[in-house]
Amino acid sequence: MNKKLIKTVALSLVASMGFLMAGCEQEQAADNELGTVTPGVLTMATNAYFPPYEFYEGEQIVGIDAEIAQAVADKLGLELVIEDVEFDSIIAGVQAGKYDIGCAGMTVTEERLQSVNFTSTYSTGIQSIIVTEGSDITNLDSLIASDCMVGVQSGTTGDLYMTDDIGEDRIDRYNKGNDAVMALISGAVGAVVIDNQPAQSFVDANEGLVILDTPYTVEDYAMAVNKENEALLEAINNALAELEADGTIDSIIEQYIPSEEA
Ligand code: ARG
Repeated sequence: MNKKLIKTVALSLVASMGFLMAGCEQEQAADNELGTVTPGVLTMATNAYFPPYEFYEGEQIVGIDAEIAQAVADKLGLELVIEDVEFDSIIAGVQAGKYDIGCAGMTVTEERLQSVNFTSTYSTGIQSIIVTEGSDITNLDSLIASDCMVGVQSGTTGDLYMTDDIGEDRIDRYNKGNDAVMALISGAVGAVVIDNQPAQSFVDANEGLVILDTPYTVEDYAMAVNKENEALLEAINNALAELEADGTIDSIIEQYIPSEEA
């Protein structure tokens, strides 16, 4: 082959590869209108030690969030894949485009809104204090006034509030809410501050613990979505509105939190 021919062949090869690649991308864009991390899949990040929102039943992650996300994925024609990760890595992972949604009984906060968008709210929670029966701590004021260590789940609103109220030195951070509760049972901490529904589940599962109400404000739970992906945000919000309107969300919540307890 002479040099000119080689050059022409090479050029046309490059050109046709470029054409093919452009073709692929277009097809993928058409197929992946919602811009999910993996086409056809809704990748959800959670931290699955937060009953009744997410917890393991055998190998499977179940709970309010898992079921609502499944119902949303069904509406969007996507397969739901749940990844169980550390709570304080969820927002960063959504922001970095690793996960499509963070769905973890996650509270909408001003600070998180700097990094991600949130869908509409599908549930609410409030921070509660768990202590052992007979504890001197009877409310938030006596908790603040005491000198006991407080167990929290790292990076949660309970962590933020407590750190503000009593300072770093009295905070013991755990990756799982349940580990904080175990620390309370063993006496390593004098109280645990966590959302009310998981608090109730932990108290139901362990003898000798009680829940104290706090004057903290009610928190809205929503799914975190990457700021760049407005199409997905809108599609999820539409799906949530439909699931709200037809009673699906209420019945999922009722299944895990029977109303006489709520
Ligand atoms: N609502 C609290 C927050 O957003 C706690 C959420 C913890 N969720 C979990 N799946 N572990 O900070």
